[in-house]
Amino acid sequence: MGKFQVIDHPLIQHKLTIIREKNCGTKVFREVVDEIAMLMAYEVSRDMPLEDIEIETPMGTSVQKTLTGKKVAIIPILRAGIGMVDGMLELIPAAKVGHVGLYRDHDTLEPVEYFVKLPADIADRQLFVVDPMLATGGSAIMAIDLLKRRGATNIKFVCLVAAPEGVKALQEAHPDVDIYTAGLDEKLNDEGYIVPGLGDAGDRLFGTK
Ligand code: URA
Repeated sequence: MGKFQVIDHPLIQHKLTIIREKNCGTKVFREVVDEIAMLMAYEVSRDMPLEDIEIETPMGTSVQKTLTGKKVAIIPILRAGIGMVDGMLELIPAAKVGHVGLYRDHDTLEPVEYFVKLPADIADRQLFVVDPMLATGGSAIMAIDLLKRRGATNIKFVCLVAAPEGVKALQEAHPDVDIYTAGLDEKLNDEGYIVPGLGDAGDRLFGTK
């Protein structure tokens, strides 16, 4: 079974509370999501492999650490996932970005694929699939299904708020995928929203309704 981790760093927890507040406006919401995503990138990249290289400092030759292993691609699930991309790119600026467009059918609550554009070499990359809300897990499962069909093997899922139902569904569907969240909430309501959650992440990021 993949790792499931609530990233309980005080800065992340504090910032998550700010965006949960219903009176938090679009500007602050967007900025704080950006900051949380950046801080989460620090944690989710913690196990990136290092290798020794020899360098020249002004004082002489020295063996030091440098990143090795797979290059990264960040894969936002549209539309809300876009809000987490820039923050992650601040720490992993050379990452490529692929987009997976899924919308949730309001009647069935099932995800429907409408746009997929990925780096050609996703099979060789460490993928960070990002979506602020892990609710039923339907979108995350479908996005990861389609990435695996295209050869991806190394996938981590990063969200801001998760429902227990979504975590369970994603773990069952993709036991090899590590899941990181800033908050693990109580439940889903009858409309598929996370409670207490933060509402519709896409609407709050983009100021739509
Ligand atoms: N998507 C959202 O944006 N919010 C939820 O609470 C659940 C799914």
